[in-house]
Amino acid sequence: MNEIRVAIDGPAGAGKSTVAKMVARRLGLLYIDTGAMYRAVTWKAIEEGIPLSDEQKLVELASNLHIRLQTNKQKQSVFVNDTNVTEQIRSKEVTEHVSTVSAIPGVRTSLVKMQQKLAQEQGVVMDGRDIGTCVIPDAEVKIFLTASLEERARRRMEELIRKGVQVDFEELKSSIAKRDEMDSSREFAPLRKAEDAYSIDTTNLSLDEVVEQIVSICEKQIGTKL
Ligand code: CDP
Ligand code: CDP
Repeated sequence: MNEIRVAIDGPAGAGKSTVAKMVARRLGLLYIDTGAMYRAVTWKAIEEGIPLSDEQKLVELASNLHIRLQTNKQKQSVFVNDTNVTEQIRSKEVTEHVSTVSAIPGVRTSLVKMQQKLAQEQGVVMDGRDIGTCVIPDAEVKIFLTASLEERARRRMEELIRKGVQVDFEELKSSIAKRDEMDSSREFAPLRKAEDAYSIDTTNLSLDEVVEQIVSICEKQIGTKL
């Protein structure tokens, strides 16, 4: 059971990280947020003033960066060379630029290597854009989570309001749509449903309902009640 690998992909705001964390806790697996890794590289590049057009420097940065994901029951913290950047990597600036950085093949090569190493060491629930297609193409369970753009923007808006951040709904919606478009149309490892992934449209589902569906799929795949 501890060997099972669950790959969860999908567009921004579909519920991947929230659901992945819940499934990991339920099944006793390690949760790995691969988006946090791309965000960490983007944060460091901005911090060091590296122009996002300088691909060579960004590839170098990604290959030398020490990214550590520390998980406890409540939350996952992200460290870059021992600095806790959990909050900083969610900033508007990082969110605006992360798709540019993640489209660079050499950046992906470094991060995918780290992700594959983590998935070899133990059972995992890993979420991202290319987990089922590139990072763990032989994962026991592959899920593709979606929800309407309107609903995904509404969820993000609620999250930001909870944090006390004021945002314009239409602006938020178009920034999510733009990021999805960039992630889906890039040449290298675009956001795509793996052929053998189960699609779940979460637009009208609660978090618990999504988790139940994923746990049922895991049970079906491995032939044991979990
Ligand atoms: O949480 P949210 O959906 O806003 O994004 P995220 O999962 O933190 O991912 C941030 C960005 O990282 C995505 O928009 C992609 O550009 C990139 N990413 C990727 O290219 N491949 C992954 N496996 C995960 C994230
Ligand atoms: O990781 P991703 O960008 O796909 O989504 P997320 O960061 O998990 O954000 C989704 C937000 O929508 C969270 O605040 C969830 O509580 C909420 N939500 C959900 O994910 N799924 C539902 N079925 C209902 C609400």
